[in-house]
Amino acid sequence: MLHEFTISMSLKKVDEAIEKLNFHGYYNLYYNQPIEQFTEDNGYGFRELMDADVDLKIFLEETDEAPVDVEKVREEIASILEMKKEAIHYQFVEAQDWQQPFPIINLQNGWYIKPTHAEEEVEGRVIHFEPPRAFGSGLHETTQDCLRFILREDLRGKKILDLGTGAGLLSIAAALVGAEQVVAVDIEDVEDEVLYNARLNKVEKRISVIQGDVLHPTFRVDGLFDWILVNIAANEIKKLYAFLDSHLVSNGKLLLSGMVEWNYKEALDVYAEKGYHVEQISHSNEWVTALVTKKKG
Ligand SMILES: C[S@@+](CC[C@H](N)C(=O)[O-])C[C@H]1O[C@@H](n2cnc3c(N)ncnc32)[C@H](O)[C@@H]1O
Repeated sequence: MLHEFTISMSLKKVDEAIEKLNFHGYYNLYYNQPIEQFTEDNGYGFRELMDADVDLKIFLEETDEAPVDVEKVREEIASILEMKKEAIHYQFVEAQDWQQPFPIINLQNGWYIKPTHAEEEVEGRVIHFEPPRAFGSGLHETTQDCLRFILREDLRGKKILDLGTGAGLLSIAAALVGAEQVVAVDIEDVEDEVLYNARLNKVEKRISVIQGDVLHPTFRVDGLFDWILVNIAANEIKKLYAFLDSHLVSNGKLLLSGMVEWNYKEALDVYAEKGYHVEQISHSNEWVTALVTKKKG
C-alpha cells in the first residue's frame, strides 16, 4: 500500500523543501523537472523552466508493521514546510498504478527485446535486457530502427564499433548475429550496464567498453572495423566523418542514426560527397536512420 502526498510549489523552493523533508525522515520524494522541448538544427533541445511550479510528491509505504496515519502525516509535513495542511493533496495509490513495467518489444522481424522481469514466453529470438536508467531502453525509434538493420545481417567474423552505445543494445545485437569483436563507446560510464546486459545474452566475451568523448581530438580507438554504428545526432555524424573514414574498412558499412527529417540530408551529403553510397534510409516519425557503404578503395 502506498500513500502519496502532493504539494504544488515553485521550482525555486523545491530543493529547500526536499532538504527539510529528508531531515525529518521523508526520503521517498519525487517531482517532474519542468522542461520545455524545442527543435533545433541538431534535432531537439531542452531548457529547464526555472519559473515554473512543480508538484512535489512524497510517498509513504504502509506495511502491517508500519501503519500510516494519513492525517498525522499531513500535519507533520505542513509543520515541517510551514504551510497549511489543506494545501497538501492526498491520494492512496495502488501498486499497479505507479509501477509501470517496461514492456516486451516486438521488433516485427522475428526478434523481441525482453526485459528481465517479463515472465511471458515469446515466439522468436530474444535480446534479454535490464531496462536502464536513461536512454537506450529499446523503446526509442532510432534504437529500434538500428536494431532492425543489424539483426537481418550475418556479422560472423566481423569487427564492430558502436559509438554512443548507451545501454549497449546495438552492440549486443551485433554480437548476437555473430560479430566476433564489438567495441562499445560512450561519453558516460556505461561499462557495468552494457556488460550486465551482454551477460544476459551470453555475448559479454565479445564486447569491450570504452568511456570517451568520440568528438574529442584526443579520442583514440585502435584498428579498423567492418561496421561502425553511430546513434547520436546529425551534428556528431557530420563531425565524425574523418574519424569514421579512418576506422572503416574498404566496403565497410556505417549505420547512422539519431538524425531527424530536417537535418539528415545535410549530414548524409558529407558522406555522399566523399563517395560513400547511401544504401537504405528508414524513417520512423521524424527520426531517420541510414545505412551507408564506403566504396572500395
Ligand atoms: C541516442 S543515445 C543511443 C544509445 C544506443 N546506441 C541506442 O541506440 O539505444 C546516444 C548515446 O550517445 C552518447 N553520446 C553522446 N555524445 C557522445 C560523445 N560525444 N561521445 C560518446 N558518446 C556520446 C550518449 O551518452 C548516449 O548514450
